[in-house]
Amino acid sequence: MLNRRKFISGSALGSVGLLMGKELRSAPRLAAPDLPLVVSTWDVGMDANRAAWDVLSQGGRALDAVEQGVRVTEDSLNCCVGLGGNPDRDGFVTLDACIMDEQGNCGSVAFLERIKHPVSVARRVMEKTPHVMLVGSGAQQFALAEGFPLESGILSEDAQRAYQQWLEKSNYTPPEKNIENKKQHGPFAPTRLASGEWNHDTIGMLALDQKGNLSGSCTTSGAGFKMRGRVGDSPLIGSGLFVDNEVGACVATGQGEEIIRIAGSHLVVEFMRSGLSPEQSCKKAIERLVQCRKDKLGDVQVCFLAIDRSGAIGSFALRPGFTYAVRARHEEKIYKSASWFGN
Ligand code: GLY
Repeated sequence: MLNRRKFISGSALGSVGLLMGKELRSAPRLAAPDLPLVVSTWDVGMDANRAAWDVLSQGGRALDAVEQGVRVTEDSLNCCVGLGGNPDRDGFVTLDACIMDEQGNCGSVAFLERIKHPVSVARRVMEKTPHVMLVGSGAQQFALAEGFPLESGILSEDAQRAYQQWLEKSNYTPPEKNIENKKQHGPFAPTRLASGEWNHDTIGMLALDQKGNLSGSCTTSGAGFKMRGRVGDSPLIGSGLFVDNEVGACVATGQGEEIIRIAGSHLVVEFMRSGLSPEQSCKKAIERLVQCRKDKLGDVQVCFLAIDRSGAIGSFALRPGFTYAVRARHEEKIYKSASWFGN
């Protein structure tokens, strides 16, 4: 059987190649009549985009699209997002997610256990509480009160296998030490597989609806075998996701610690505000990271995906291998991102 993480990168691109023709590299720009539009990170974004498209193509709101879209990935057995993801080093899957709409409303959950759809809990936090973020047992308590079922907490077969393998060495190391310690201690996701593909645990989605309104979502099981209680960038508004309806929106994927250090998604949106294109803005954020962290980056990956309010799309990654999925009226494709260290 194919390794699940390899399957994500390999087969999705293959099927797009068959269905849609060649895979493209340059960032598309969609004219206003081509709205609505949805983009999401990695190849798994193809399936998520379809669910989002069902909402958008019927004139639905971007906020509903980005929630419905990433729920598909949270449900999927072929992905590390959601309860099928890798556990922390104590053997528990803990989930982080956030959502943001066109009015600057946002909600987030972190360190949430045994709830299948953290993105929907994040939306309830946004809509039903005076807060932006709930974490841990408080987030779970809120989810249960809102009627979300408590799941079993049993690891998926793949996650159980990966955890047993990790336990053989079971040492946590800071990400910048990974480059020396990865062989000894196992991966601290996302890391590069022997095949050269990236092991990734996050989906971020951005949508622009027919009314020209933007929303975004981001959901993850976080870094595999993380310290208990670790929270990455994905639930942090401004790091894993930022939406400004007057300018554009950005989502991040990759090593959360590095993304948090530069408040990555907010930084990208601010670059767009200054007049840069989405791709230039993502590139400038990666440049900032490289300047800040210099030789401390180790072997980690960091990726940004952005759209502006006119529908221009752009991305940039630290290393090769980042892909993103686009769905619009006249296209459904996976694009390869440019990266700092070449393609
Ligand atoms: N970007 C996902 C994480 O680091 O948790």
